Amino acid sequence: MKVSLFDSSNWNKPIANVDAKMAIASVLVSKVRPGQIVGVGSGSTCFLTVQKIAALESDVLKTLRFVCTSIEIELLCTSLNMNVIPFRNVSIDWHFDGADEINSANEIIKGRGGAFFREKLLFYFAKEVIIVADRSKYVKSLCDNHPLPLEVHPDALSSVAKEISNIGAAEVALRLAEGKKDGPVITEQGNVILDTKWEHLDIATNSRLIQIPGIIETGLFFRDDTTFISE
Ligand code: 5RP
Repeated sequence: MKVSLFDSSNWNKPIANVDAKMAIASVLVSKVRPGQIVGVGSGSTCFLTVQKIAALESDVLKTLRFVCTSIEIELLCTSLNMNVIPFRNVSIDWHFDGADEINSANEIIKGRGGAFFREKLLFYFAKEVIIVADRSKYVKSLCDNHPLPLEVHPDALSSVAKEISNIGAAEVALRLAEGKKDGPVITEQGNVILDTKWEHLDIATNSRLIQIPGIIETGLFFRDDTTFISE
């Protein structure tokens, strides 16, 4: 019988800019100190970083605890014998995560992997946050290459879609699972995702979006003490 569960040695698809992402992962792993609680983001850069952390000396590794932002990264960490703990009631020493887009004001779009609800919890509440991003992530304007994702309660889907069209979204699309499941992508929280494009996306627009009932979270991230590591 062949059992195929989770492959901790390979990400689920070819990794773009893999050399740059490996170099970033090496810098990040040098920050690890014994006894820390580390927040782990999602995506391929984080995948490569976790592999490097898992290769630390076992005396150090066993003192560390990890809070994960997605089921994917939790499966990875547990399959590499890392101590995974829940977010509840812990104080995270530092948290690392990837990005889809970063503008010149250090505003970030995340959520290509659909995990931005938990990603934002850790991004906001960790004592220190580090974004790991290869050069391809730096853009002139937000939404140049990636949509802004919104996590939406399924019951509110059409009302939210109408409301965000009214406040100026240029495009709104339900994210579909495309072949691996019929219908939409379902998040870790049991919600759906609307991918939205905007001509001028800014923090003010984000503040309006987050006030709309039914929108659980947005993929726009900003924290003025964020550290960025690029190649
Ligand atoms: C997942 C994310 C990722 O951090 C972002 O998509 C970057 O991914 P990668 O490191 O694979 O380029 O936000 O929700």
